[in-house]
Amino acid sequence: SRDDDIDENSKQEQLDDVRENPEGEQLTSDHGVKISDTDNSLKAGERGPTIMEDFHFREKMTQFDHESIPERVVHARGTGAHGYFQPYEDPDLGEYDDLSELTKASFLQDPDQKTPVFTRFSTVVGSRGSADTVRDVRGFATKFYTEEGNWDLVGNNIPVFFIQDAMEFPDLVHAIKPEPDDAIPQASSAHDTFWDFASLKPEITHMIMWVLSGRALPRAYRMMQGFGVHTFRLVNEEGDSKFVKFHWTPKLDTSQLVWDETQKIAGKNPDFNRQELYDAIEAGYAPEWELGVQIFDEDDAAEFDFDVLDPTKIVPETEVPVRPIGKMVLNETPDNFFAEVEQVAFHPGNVVPGIDFSNDPLLQGRLFSYQDTQLNRFNSANWDEIPINRPVAERHNNQRAGFMRQEINEGKASYKPNSIGDDDPRETPENEGGYEHYAEKIEGQKIRNRSESFEDHFSQARLFWNSMTDPEKQNIVDAARFELSKVDRMEIRERMVYDLFNNVDHEFAKRVAEGIGVEPPEEPGDEMPTHDREDSRLSIEERRD
Ligand code: HEM
Repeated sequence: SRDDDIDENSKQEQLDDVRENPEGEQLTSDHGVKISDTDNSLKAGERGPTIMEDFHFREKMTQFDHESIPERVVHARGTGAHGYFQPYEDPDLGEYDDLSELTKASFLQDPDQKTPVFTRFSTVVGSRGSADTVRDVRGFATKFYTEEGNWDLVGNNIPVFFIQDAMEFPDLVHAIKPEPDDAIPQASSAHDTFWDFASLKPEITHMIMWVLSGRALPRAYRMMQGFGVHTFRLVNEEGDSKFVKFHWTPKLDTSQLVWDETQKIAGKNPDFNRQELYDAIEAGYAPEWELGVQIFDEDDAAEFDFDVLDPTKIVPETEVPVRPIGKMVLNETPDNFFAEVEQVAFHPGNVVPGIDFSNDPLLQGRLFSYQDTQLNRFNSANWDEIPINRPVAERHNNQRAGFMRQEINEGKASYKPNSIGDDDPRETPENEGGYEHYAEKIEGQKIRNRSESFEDHFSQARLFWNSMTDPEKQNIVDAARFELSKVDRMEIRERMVYDLFNNVDHEFAKRVAEGIGVEPPEEPGDEMPTHDREDSRLSIEERRD
């Protein structure tokens, strides 16, 4: 059932309650005392020392000293905007009649309903003040403030990822971030530790091909695709589930810078992408993206020659077309960068009924990591209460305490069950809108492993290379040469050429080798490197024996 109070403007109305416009007011302290002089500290005598008693000085300076929160451990650099999402009247769903056959998520059902959203775009590696136009993946994270709670689609502008298991994420990020001894380079992948890691992880190959391409140099956030990357699930009222991949497609189409442009722009205007988005929205050119879905089931998945739980793989559109289901328009810039863009906190575990997870081991680990990292950023479990993160859906539970609690909850009973009964929020059964996890049948042995179905690291990388035009191929070769020529250790350059690129395409590997002082590789043999730990591990069968 639709709650008429929640519409496109509901988030803005909620934010209006906390927006402060101090114009024309008198200057006061944080505690409301009018201030007579904010330029001079209280002193003992005409030329004497400042006195501890000066509460105005101490408050002003303490506020300033604590103005920043830790930057995000990744995706620190970004910008964001408000807008809305609206489902299409007649989505092209192929064999399905309407979206209710696929998902019970209420915000996807009614073409007249506009759901407020906030989207943050970001780079991954650089710090909060780094340049926009670096070679990097871009984050594309959207918070949907739906009437059934917040759904966060925390995606990237590249449809695959570097690694296959969340366990590897700290290693990946340590390798790509500035090196631990000298903190160089600030926002670039062109250094030994990243390529060392990459050259020892053949599963990274597909992602590396995308990162060396123009996809890692978007001209504008408005001209960028977005991808949920993982396989997710949609679940309908009957409890039937289909797998889904989410795609954002920009109305303006995709467009990229070339390397030379990116370097010049980074020097002249490091805020290039941030400013472009802000100026476009302020000038009335609200950017728009189409949300599309690829729908497939377990039987389809069994037919593919890759595993749909492996985040280094796409589901080719030749196998499963992308069906457009709605649009997102970003039409409002933030009023305060810190309160909105810096404090927005995404979490892939924020889902609503009708949207669920798959067993992708990268996604499963993310479900822990984001909640955890917000505790570091906000120093409080109440990060979900601050204005930009609050749902517009009603919140009602027994959480009432913790650092920086924003609500004053009345009543005695903050536990369940209780018989005092002045405030006892009831649980909601699934058929009335309570979230129930999809009852997937699971059977197996407890095992720390990498599925054999995740082993093919090169076929889709080759597919990507073969889909490029000649100039695009040249850009990729040039990018590989640039990046690897910044690597001091020759054995790392060699491993990239012999173990990774040569298994993608022999000509490609030869062209890169030529530019970086590496002997041209032989034709690749049958022996392709697989996951580096593979040889040291017992298979399930061996353990059983
Ligand atoms: C941000 C962890 C993989 C997209 C973050 C943050 C962490 C994190 C800790 C900082 C969040 C914050 O401080 O607010 C991880 C882990 C991953 C992983 C552990 C793998 C195991 C991915 C993947 C994607 C992705 C595969 C894309 C599908 C993003 C985006 C942000 C982000 C877009 C920035 C959100 C924002 O704008 O605030 N990630 N991440 N991450 N991650 Fe991941």
